[in-house]
Amino acid sequence: MIVEAAPAKLNLALHVRARRADGYHELETLFAFVADGDVVTIDPTGAPGLTLTGPFAAGLSGEGDNLVLRAERLFRARVVDGRPMAILLDKRLPVASGIGGGSADAAATLRALARLEGVAIDDPRLFGCAEALGSDVPACLLGKTALGRGRGELLLPLDGLAALPALLINPGVAVSTAAVFARWDGIDRGPIGQGDPLAAALAGRNDLEPPALALAPVIAEILALLAAQPGVRLARMSGSGATCFALFDTADQRAAAAARVRAAHPWWCLETVLAGQPGVPCRDQAAA
Ligand code: C5P
Repeated sequence: MIVEAAPAKLNLALHVRARRADGYHELETLFAFVADGDVVTIDPTGAPGLTLTGPFAAGLSGEGDNLVLRAERLFRARVVDGRPMAILLDKRLPVASGIGGGSADAAATLRALARLEGVAIDDPRLFGCAEALGSDVPACLLGKTALGRGRGELLLPLDGLAALPALLINPGVAVSTAAVFARWDGIDRGPIGQGDPLAAALAGRNDLEPPALALAPVIAEILALLAAQPGVRLARMSGSGATCFALFDTADQRAAAAARVRAAHPWWCLETVLAGQPGVPCRDQAAA
């Protein structure tokens, strides 16, 4: 059995700089990862196919267009040929929610197949597959705090982000990434600052918040609630939404904020920690 964590990614800041002729947008974004996420397991002896489990399995199809199966096909076509595998995807993250779910799953599938076939994790062909699968997949393959440029695939790893307590909230409204980008107002508000990643994030913004709020007004309510919690360092939307996160000074402050949110709203609410790395098991696995 090969078990790979697919940690959720956060965009600590996301600056949209320009529309491109190819339909994508030129970005600068601070990618970071948390200690929880989906889990991809490959059973080399099992019958081929994708099995979905977990709280968000119902939101997905196990058909051929699933990013996990697309990642497997691309790996087999470009890296090491072989027969399809039995893959189990434990879907713990909400779908289409701005924290990388499908991209993280595709990246974890590439890492699992690389381990199975003895391919180095930094093999450039893996990054080639990741880039072809989606703008966030290279960052999820790297799985470390990084500055992303281009459409998100040009990555500069960054050191020095502390393991801060984080709270993630999703209202259960799926937001289309393409629809959010299409509503961006076209104004370049400038680059992300250099130096300490948290300081750069605090001085930065997510330019996709206004267009996402226009499509899903509940996001404004979540951001206001998070920003009002004691001990919050940063409250922001991730990616194209609708998931928002808050970073806290202490785990007690995070727990108190989570308790208040849960008491008042039926939203998905995850208490986790910033700066989880791939290869470090998700919490549940570590406990098992
Ligand atoms: O690359 P990916 O397939 O994940 O992107 C989904 C959609 O998000 C794209 O089709 C595009 O509409 C939008 N997008 C964008 N600029 C980016 C990344 C994504 O416009 N840098």
